[in-house]
Amino acid sequence: MILLYLAAFLVFLLLALFVLAPLRSAPRPFPENPRPEELRLELQALKQEARELKGEERVRVLKRIAWIERELGTAERREAVRAAVPARRFPVLAVVLVLVGGAALAAALVAYTLPRLPGGSVTEALAVRELKKLKELKAEAERVNTPEAWLAYADLAFELHDLERAAQGYTKVIELDHKNLKAYRRYGMILFMAGRPKEAAQVLAVVTRVDPDPEGLLFLGNAYFQLGDYGKAIAAWETYLKRGGEARERVRNLIATARARMNAKDPGERVYAEKCAACHGAKGEGGIGPKLAKNPILNAPEAVAEIVRNGRGRMPAVPLSDAKLADLLAYLKKL
Ligand code: HEC
Repeated sequence: MILLYLAAFLVFLLLALFVLAPLRSAPRPFPENPRPEELRLELQALKQEARELKGEERVRVLKRIAWIERELGTAERREAVRAAVPARRFPVLAVVLVLVGGAALAAALVAYTLPRLPGGSVTEALAVRELKKLKELKAEAERVNTPEAWLAYADLAFELHDLERAAQGYTKVIELDHKNLKAYRRYGMILFMAGRPKEAAQVLAVVTRVDPDPEGLLFLGNAYFQLGDYGKAIAAWETYLKRGGEARERVRNLIATARARMNAKDPGERVYAEKCAACHGAKGEGGIGPKLAKNPILNAPEAVAEIVRNGRGRMPAVPLSDAKLADLLAYLKKL
């Protein structure tokens, strides 16, 4: 695509040069105005006539002489002005200006449209670079086969939300280093994000007993919450807050929701709290998943139902009965 732009720019340059070519050659002199010559001849004749004439006639001829002299004077001044202005400077300046302007225009065009070209967005370019880095880290880990190298690979994959590669990496770390708490914790978090809250809860319940990092408790709470075990979810989140976890606002909201959920009336609200709130926030304000409250996608319930049934991107499928799905869709509109 860049080549196409460069080609277009070159064509533009050639056209500009072609159009301006006549200006680049030496300026041809303007054809001599015949009028001053005629006037000069007339002047000579009139001056002779004037010597012989008298009275009214002489005055008329003298007036004519004065007029011709004035005319000749301005003509000469014009001539002098034209000679004084170097005619070549203008075309050279114009050529330079057109070239600079054209180059700026082409550069702006490329810079402005490039990120929007299909199949070549800036984020994609970034992703390509990150994926290259990920490949390098994997090659390195395979070469040295140490827990540190596999951990570096798994951590980058996790950051890139490449859950599959991250899970593989953390599994390798655990194989080589049975006591690596981070690898167990991240593995449990991945299980939750992959829509397996039961297994996630099993892994994280063990890990968080010895793991000082509160991250695991947040996800243990999420997993219990999704399993409908609100009491245990609240306990995990409260420990998370006590240990100084960072997502304080979100977790306080989740705790409040879990408390309310224990005696909720709206069946849709109960489904939402159980199945969606851990990722999308207690009130749909967003979290691991995007904000749902007032999200325009809610105007297309079929699309939401489709996403819930089959999952999308990083969101796992959430199996629900038709009745529960209907309750949920009704509740989402109230968020
Ligand atoms: C394990 C976490 C998780 C759970 C549980 C979850 N989601 Fe999601 N959801 C996500 C993520 C992540 C995305 C972004 C998906 C993508 O496009 O990559 C998402 C996207 C969505 C979208 C599309 C939003 C948009 O603006 O495009 C909707 C709608 C949605 N989720 C609804 C729900 C509902 C309803 C539930 C409960 C039945 C639910 N989700 C449960 C993580 C989750």
